[in-house]
Amino acid sequence: MALRKPTWLRPEHRVGDPNGYMRHLLYIDPDDAFVISAITWLPGQMSAVHGHQVWCIFGVVEGDLTEEQFSERGELRKKVIYRAGELADSDLAQKMVHRVSNRGIARVVSLHLYGVSANKLTTGINRVVKI
Ligand SMILES: [Fe+2]
Repeated sequence: MALRKPTWLRPEHRVGDPNGYMRHLLYIDPDDAFVISAITWLPGQMSAVHGHQVWCIFGVVEGDLTEEQFSERGELRKKVIYRAGELADSDLAQKMVHRVSNRGIARVVSLHLYGVSANKLTTGINRVVKI
């Protein structure tokens, strides 16, 4: 998958929401094993610190995306900035605790594969972590 300049990612999939990062559902696996979403992060927008209930792989299509990885106790383990075309550390075993953010001044678009069925899209991906 060419992450750097995917011609199939249309302009409407890169639209952001000033109220918070915006998910665009791109593809639902016919066997309900995974979904692909684009997420648009406007400057300053970030996720909560969270884990995952399902496997997750993501990469960056546009801009610079910051990820902070934490231990379950909340200690910062790693901070990395992913650039367009780069894949982030995957979370295949639901062990990751992280926060994703746009700390820059330009829009960021990322692509996410989640091992979740479409009917659990809103509640079945993230896992709340109290740190
Ligand atoms: Fe995540």
